[in-house]
Amino acid sequence: MATASRPEPGGTPVLLPDGAELQGGRLAIGGCDVGALAARFGTPLLILDRATIDHRLAEFAGVLGGPERVVYAGKALLCVALCELLDAAGASLDVGSAGELATALAAGFPAERIVLHGNNKSLAELETAAHHGVGRVVLDSFDEIARVAEVRPRCRLLVRVTPGVAVETHEFIRTGQEGSKFGFPTGPHALEALRRALALPGCDTVGVHLHLGSQIVDLDAFARAAERIAALLARARDELGFVASEIDAGGGFGIAYTPDDRVPPPERAAKAVVGALSGALRRAGLPEARIYLEPGRAIVGPAGVTVYTVGTVKRLPGRTWVAVDGGMADNPRPMLYGARYHAFDPTRIDAPAGSPVSLAGRYCESGDVLVHDAALPEGVAPGDLVCLAATGAYTYAMASNYNRVGRPAVVLVDGGVATEIVARETPADLLRLDRHLDGRPAGWRG
Ligand SMILES: Cc1ncc(COP(=O)(O)O)c(C=O)c1O
Repeated sequence: MATASRPEPGGTPVLLPDGAELQGGRLAIGGCDVGALAARFGTPLLILDRATIDHRLAEFAGVLGGPERVVYAGKALLCVALCELLDAAGASLDVGSAGELATALAAGFPAERIVLHGNNKSLAELETAAHHGVGRVVLDSFDEIARVAEVRPRCRLLVRVTPGVAVETHEFIRTGQEGSKFGFPTGPHALEALRRALALPGCDTVGVHLHLGSQIVDLDAFARAAERIAALLARARDELGFVASEIDAGGGFGIAYTPDDRVPPPERAAKAVVGALSGALRRAGLPEARIYLEPGRAIVGPAGVTVYTVGTVKRLPGRTWVAVDGGMADNPRPMLYGARYHAFDPTRIDAPAGSPVSLAGRYCESGDVLVHDAALPEGVAPGDLVCLAATGAYTYAMASNYNRVGRPAVVLVDGGVATEIVARETPADLLRLDRHLDGRPAGWRG
């Protein structure tokens, strides 16, 4: 069967969003038939299930003791409507650039619940953050501490530390290991950073931040990191008289992308981090700290499903190429990280699968292959729909206009209602910034 995993109450992992239902072999999400959504909004289309986002935010909030302790990582996916949804849930928001900050502010997201990140924040970004009253800034380098001294934001500060724990994940998304470009190693560098941060006038240095990496499934890594954090904070107490009241332990919780993936459910993962940190602080004789987490992928990843339309089927000796109307520009993860996905036809999810096919994108790169061994229905043909599951995170957020193709639309589905929360990019959008040789706006004459 060319199936996609169905949601199993209490079971993990699941590939489809919580709001997924199968109705006579057709997939519906949030009460909306996926085939009908494709007809109405066109393809490629990113469908986001609100129920999944709400459930996952609530799960993390339950473990952490409050929705504001869930600092959604905007880099996974950000747009105005998503900020509104996060605000309604009472969550906090991690932004890593002036653009992400502008998106949050445009949504009316409370600046006090925004955490500013980045390993190279510009003076202008720090000034904008200070101007709008961003609640927390995470310090990443000595140069940045000097910039913050210039800007004098009235906010809370955390020092980002790298505990020297290398997690098992793709090397591009590993961040907490020794030699990482992020943060201060948890030895003399981190102590010096804390010392300088504590000396900044007008700000309140409250603790440390760590982020080990992304798509982590081995929870022991968090326990190893917790011991190093507690050791650092014990030294900070002894040598600087500083007692941390906050620890932001980052995100990184893995999700299932294929039916073979086994990942800890979010609640278990969050409990493991909180338990490890609390235990390590206690053993080091330190008081409890407020613990924050920054999940991105674990919130929006499983909420998303991308729908494509098949355009060509090329049956060659030894391989069949099925090409869809999207690919590496709307989802660069297969090319960037060798990421694997599960493909299926949302209008006949129970149809018997033919021989495996290669699901190719439409872009001018041989490496633009979304799935190398897709089990699509026998006789797949132009006009058929193909879905990839678990595409909510790091797809649209990393999308490009390669080949001058517009980025897809994004729809949020909930209770039988589909709302377009990001419109499809048009040729006019693509030409908006172009100028003729004489400097006149180019415009679209289509
Ligand atoms: C500082 C920080 N926090 C949180 C995240 C979110 O990670 P994930 O989406 O894996 O939960 C990232 C991702 O790179 C990050 O760099």
